[in-house]
Amino acid sequence: MAKRVLVKFSGEALASKEGFGIDTAILKYIASEIKSLVENGIEVGLVVGGGNIIRGVSAAKEGIIRRSAGDYMGMLATVINAVALQEALEYWGLKVRVQSAIKMEEICEPFIVRRAIRHLEKGRVVIFAAGTGNPFFTTDTAATLRAIEIGAEMIIKATKVNGVYDKDPNRFPDAKKLDTLTYDEALSDNIKVMDDTAIALAKDNRLPIVVCNMFESGNLLEIIKGDYTKCSIVSNNIK
Ligand code: GTP
Repeated sequence: MAKRVLVKFSGEALASKEGFGIDTAILKYIASEIKSLVENGIEVGLVVGGGNIIRGVSAAKEGIIRRSAGDYMGMLATVINAVALQEALEYWGLKVRVQSAIKMEEICEPFIVRRAIRHLEKGRVVIFAAGTGNPFFTTDTAATLRAIEIGAEMIIKATKVNGVYDKDPNRFPDAKKLDTLTYDEALSDNIKVMDDTAIALAKDNRLPIVVCNMFESGNLLEIIKGDYTKCSIVSNNIK
């Protein structure tokens, strides 16, 4: 069983039915899933996206807001989600620290990797906010980077789908789920696991990427215990 993991949630998944904002019922559910990991002695780092509030690329698409400004706005969105998630985790009685890649000491701690590791060793959940702190990077890349920095054994991308498909399952009924992929396969154009920067970083550091459905209760724990039947895994292992 993995001892330390990083779980990445999409911000979009936190959204209410209207497609934006934060649905506290979802927040409460996610936090309860994380609680079951902590109760099993797993050290958990978290990254949450910001797409339920604003996305840099979309904000910049009319050419009024520049891409870099849009990305900083997106990083701020991840801090809002991180603070919300911290509240939900504390609701379940967990110990939590939020660390931001962009200093905002009134709201949360700055990102200091050695301190983050110490928090994890003490059984605290650490939420890494504000992406990498740089524009032109995604929260998937931030999550991969943090996973490597804290020495996580895997990164779990918790999404709305149960794995990686050879084509978009929403558009193609014959789309096939891929249970295992190599990094190079994940880098190919039609496979959407993460952006290339994130995958390349994972490849260079041999960090396995697991993609699973966050809305199936118990899934995260099963994966961490070594059951990979309900997910897709990207690694260097030969099939
Ligand atoms: P230990 O050193 O292991 O006891 O860790 P700790 O995080 O409990 O200690 P510390 O006294 O540093 O922090 C106490 C509380 O203050 C925790 O809830 C931290 O998240 C919070 N905290 C620490 N540094 C900052 C900061 O720079 N900004 C904000 N907003 N909170 C902080």
